[in-house]
Amino acid sequence: MCIRRGLSEAALGRILTFMSETFSIETRKGLPEHLRVLADLYPRAEWRRHMNFNDLTAFWLERHLMFRQVLDKVIGDTQAHLDGNSGRYGPELSRYTGFFLDQLHGHHQIEDQHYFPQFMAMDKRLEQAFDILDADHHALDHHLQQLADHTNHVLSALQQGQKARDEAGRLLAVQEGFKTFLDRHLMDEEEIIVPIVLEYGAEMS
Ligand SMILES: [Fe+2]
Ligand SMILES: [Fe+2]
Repeated sequence: MCIRRGLSEAALGRILTFMSETFSIETRKGLPEHLRVLADLYPRAEWRRHMNFNDLTAFWLERHLMFRQVLDKVIGDTQAHLDGNSGRYGPELSRYTGFFLDQLHGHHQIEDQHYFPQFMAMDKRLEQAFDILDADHHALDHHLQQLADHTNHVLSALQQGQKARDEAGRLLAVQEGFKTFLDRHLMDEEEIIVPIVLEYGAEMS
């Protein structure tokens, strides 16, 4: 991360604590004002009309939409199971959650290795935004593990012929928590990355 250069361990520790307390994905309500320099210049409603908006950016936004939709589906299915309308709950939960975990993990890897280093270098004013997005990915890794664990608890109970109501109730809380954190991350990430694409004509390659 850019803030690490030339800092003592103690100073780094203080900054990371400040970052995690102030800009944590669990408590943040949006991007801080000083990181909205480009987001305010390029309102979301106007992105697609801008000449620098390109196909790869549209594809990247569609991936975000797909993550939201798959998560909504498994939340809806868990709620339906708790309401007694199971259908094919077990197989669908396993299939869609497995897909979601794999795809989101791969998506984060591409952003960490390609997009974030490439875009961070384009506007020094937004360096801290990439520290926040990087911290989000680490936090989401932890929440992804919880999602996997709670999904597996439901699946093993179902495989043993149980109704898994308690397990599904706990899973629903984890799924809904994940949705809140993921929505926050995706919204803020989009409001950092897309305005950089528009301002600098950057390619997402
Ligand atoms: Fe991300
Ligand atoms: Fe993303």
